[in-house]
Amino acid sequence: MTVESTCSDHEVALLYDVLNPWGASEAFYLDLMTGADSVLDVGCGTGAILKRARSEGHAGRLVGLDPDVSMLEVARERDDIAWHEGKASGIAWEGEFDLAIMSGNAFQCLITDEEIAGSLAAIHRALVPGGTFAFDTRNPLAKAWLEWDQLAPMNVVDREGRELAINYDVLDVTDGVVTLTENTSTRDGTPIRVDRGQLRFVEQEALGRFLPQAGFEIAAQFGDWDRSLSTRSSTFTVTLARRT
Ligand SMILES: C[S@@+](CC[C@H](N)C(=O)[O-])C[C@H]1O[C@@H](n2cnc3c(N)ncnc32)[C@H](O)[C@@H]1O
Repeated sequence: MTVESTCSDHEVALLYDVLNPWGASEAFYLDLMTGADSVLDVGCGTGAILKRARSEGHAGRLVGLDPDVSMLEVARERDDIAWHEGKASGIAWEGEFDLAIMSGNAFQCLITDEEIAGSLAAIHRALVPGGTFAFDTRNPLAKAWLEWDQLAPMNVVDREGRELAINYDVLDVTDGVVTLTENTSTRDGTPIRVDRGQLRFVEQEALGRFLPQAGFEIAAQFGDWDRSLSTRSSTFTVTLARRT
């Protein structure tokens, strides 16, 4: 949700790829995709992972879904991938995908128990029997939000060459739901946009309840992109859940 702005949603979406360059997490999902003929990217954002998969020769069905039209506008720069507007809970495909992914902590955008359960049920339906849902979510025990408040502003240059600075303010932490703002300003500190959002930090124990309730079994849980096993002190957990 935008609180105030002199910078368009489209400009912010263009900044997303600048702020989130290709890295180990994207490479992890790309690797999973090489073994799947049909892939659904839930909360695909600007679609960087699907685009890279196609560029690197993935010849199967690639579908990206996101509720944010500005992010999808950037994704649609590439037209050899199917892009759809919508939320995870509204997915209507049935038994069509070998792999569904939710990368970049998109799973943390699911705030209520009902939204998590409804989204998992819809993703489960979209997969073929035996299909995999892969997603990452930060560990609440690592309390990443304490660092976000202290971070120095990140200096970025947008696609139009504007020099900007981004920082975060954590407004509230209640029951694992963090309310924060992403603040975009010029380098001299003039505010040009404030976006307010919420992220839910789901405990591993809760994931262990939500996933089986939706018909998934947990095939693996990693604590890093090198596939080392998740522990209680991992900063995030990557889960591979199999449709039973
Ligand atoms: C942090 S971005 C991650 C984007 C991309 N997956 C990546 O790896 O860079 C989170 C994305 O989740 C999307 N999102 C928010 N709520 C959602 C929901 N209920 N269902 C699906 N996607 C959602 C947002 O619009 C946003 O594009």
